[in-house]
Amino acid sequence: MKIKNNIYWVGKKDWELRKFHGDEYSTHKGSSYNSYLIREDKTVLIDTIWQPYAKEYVRDLSKIIDLNQIDYVIANHAEIDHSGALPELMRHIPEVPIYCTKKGIDSLKGHHHLDWNFQVVKTGDRLSLGAKELVFIEAPMLHWPDSMFCYLTGDNVLFSNDAFGQHYAAEFLYNDQVDQAELRHESTKYYANILTPFSRLVTKKIKEVLSFGLPVDMICTSHGVIWRDNPTQIIEQYLAWADDYQENQITVIYDTMWEGTRQMAERIAQGMKAADKTVRIKVYNLSKTDKNDVVTEVFKSKMILVGSPTINNGILVSVAGFLEMIKGLKFKNKKAAAFGSYGWGGEAVKIINERLESAGFELMNEGIKAKWNPDEENIQRCLQFGNALVT
Ligand code: FEO
Repeated sequence: MKIKNNIYWVGKKDWELRKFHGDEYSTHKGSSYNSYLIREDKTVLIDTIWQPYAKEYVRDLSKIIDLNQIDYVIANHAEIDHSGALPELMRHIPEVPIYCTKKGIDSLKGHHHLDWNFQVVKTGDRLSLGAKELVFIEAPMLHWPDSMFCYLTGDNVLFSNDAFGQHYAAEFLYNDQVDQAELRHESTKYYANILTPFSRLVTKKIKEVLSFGLPVDMICTSHGVIWRDNPTQIIEQYLAWADDYQENQITVIYDTMWEGTRQMAERIAQGMKAADKTVRIKVYNLSKTDKNDVVTEVFKSKMILVGSPTINNGILVSVAGFLEMIKGLKFKNKKAAAFGSYGWGGEAVKIINERLESAGFELMNEGIKAKWNPDEENIQRCLQFGNALVT
């Protein structure tokens, strides 16, 4: 599919995908693995696709070009959703140079245990394609050590790999053609679940790229849509998201055994709403809601409340797993509080507090416990607790 002058999309839409990174990322709308072919005086292939589709990818590619006409392969990132088809491709063209970062060699060899004609590039290095050039920009830890972007002069296209992408098998190729609410949601979820820990690096890298003064007419990501309509909107959005993003939202997250903690969650939410009509309050039961969708809500929140009943002197595994997940994401500038019902012991609130603090959240208070199923007195305490959090 031609996308501009001599640039073609030769990727794969994965309509079936529902889990990515093992079970770590839900892909309700599938994904795409975007690979690009540039046919100037020199012919370049930028990234490949995921290994399960390697044979059909190479077969389809060979229908539009004699593989021996490929002069260079660019591996912007070694994760196997982009390098998975390299072994099948390189079987046909083993001598063709693969341009990647120094760390890229380590990752590519580590995944595929094959030695190809690697050519190491650094930020600012250029590769002539004739009248146009590819300019390389290292992007370490966005989101792997080996990650890089490349930029095609003349056409002003940035090939950004994972950055600015979405796990979204859209019915169209470009950002202006798809449902805008879906695109915003999938872009936000992608940033929240993958890039949040690297926000400081996101800001630094974007400022560095902007300082080059390169015009950007199009951003070709490796997942989801190509940004052609006002492409810098996603760059500006990334700068906002990287700046400890939050909306006027509070998210209440819990799991429950016999409905006691569920009732506490709802009463606390009710208490907050009574005191502040402007704040958006969302409530999620972790055992009934996709964890990546809840992470996206945490990303948007200024405060979260986390609840679990006490079980075996601990907390429910759904809550423990979620707290572990948000610890790794290194959210900043967010407040939190804990709650939970109990029959005896009642350690859950203390444990949740400790884990919220170690995840970088600022605790609002010591939390609230309610014995057994909340009685009228405890219902009133929960309402007051919610009320006090927002006033
Ligand atoms: Fe889309 Fe980091 O791989």
